[in-house]
Amino acid sequence: LNKQEITVTFIKANGEKIVAKGKVGDSLLDVVVNNEVDLEGFGACEGTLTCSTCHLIFKKEDYDSLPETPTDEELDMLDLAYELSDTSRLGCQIILSEKLDGLQVKVPATINDVRGT
Ligand code: FES
Repeated sequence: LNKQEITVTFIKANGEKIVAKGKVGDSLLDVVVNNEVDLEGFGACEGTLTCSTCHLIFKKEDYDSLPETPTDEELDMLDLAYELSDTSRLGCQIILSEKLDGLQVKVPATINDVRGT
């Protein structure tokens, strides 16, 4: 039993909460895709760090406990996201660990697909 189920709650800008499940080792993008969470435009580049549509806003304490620090590539993409905050990360770069069970993340109101249309 090395694959524990992790619960993640996505909070949309309108306050709607979507509870989703993932496993240790999944990215938050995987969680959105696997649970068919209805977030318009989310994850447009499928985790290749060329969009910023997977921008999520973390609570400070969660942000501080995330295992990875953002790479320069992630920071460059985040710079292009709307509603950038001090606790913003790109969901496709966040890998679930047991510690993140019960995580709540905010989904920004506007998703910026920097690749254009
Ligand atoms: Fe495009 Fe994360 S899905 S940067």
